[in-house]
Amino acid sequence: MLSHAAQSGRHANADRGDDFYETPPYATSALCVAEELPHWIWEPSAGNGAIVRVLRDRGHAVVASDIVVREFELHFVADFFSLKKPPVDCTTIVSNPPYKDADHFVRHALDLVPHVHLLLRVAFLESVRRTDVLEHRGLRTVRVFRNRLRTITRRPWSTP
Ligand SMILES: C[S@@+](CC[C@H](N)C(=O)[O-])C[C@H]1O[C@@H](n2cnc3c(N)ncnc32)[C@H](O)[C@@H]1O
Repeated sequence: MLSHAAQSGRHANADRGDDFYETPPYATSALCVAEELPHWIWEPSAGNGAIVRVLRDRGHAVVASDIVVREFELHFVADFFSLKKPPVDCTTIVSNPPYKDADHFVRHALDLVPHVHLLLRVAFLESVRRTDVLEHRGLRTVRVFRNRLRTITRRPWSTP
């Protein structure tokens, strides 16, 4: 199942190196209302834990990893693309992945676990080169936010 849930905007001032934008809490809350998520969840590009915190507040056990350590405690640091299997007990990924690698991220996520919920721009759907992902990997649901998500951009060296 691939549940592309939302659209996030482009940010000229973003930390483009890591493609780091923080997901606003209401986006994850909306996903939780819309989808029945299991107890164990993996967030493999956790950033500052914006998605992880909302899921944990709702009682989920969330394994958090990222390629970069920020002001948030990760279970492990890893390049998602180098991983060959998910953490124990995790059959579901929930994430707002680095958009520049979104195609690769979706394919790899679906190779690792059967259930994948990703926050992506609606424009992700407008692509012939993603036909394999959009039509042949079990895409089940697309949910669209009518208002563009206000993702939070914070450079690692800035104060909140
Ligand atoms: C758009 S941000 C989202 C952060 C967090 N998921 C959220 O929703 O607030 C993308 C995150 O992907 C991470 N990232 C980029 N490339 C990665 C990789 N190859 N493996 C794991 N994480 C990666 C970045 O460090 C960044 O934290």
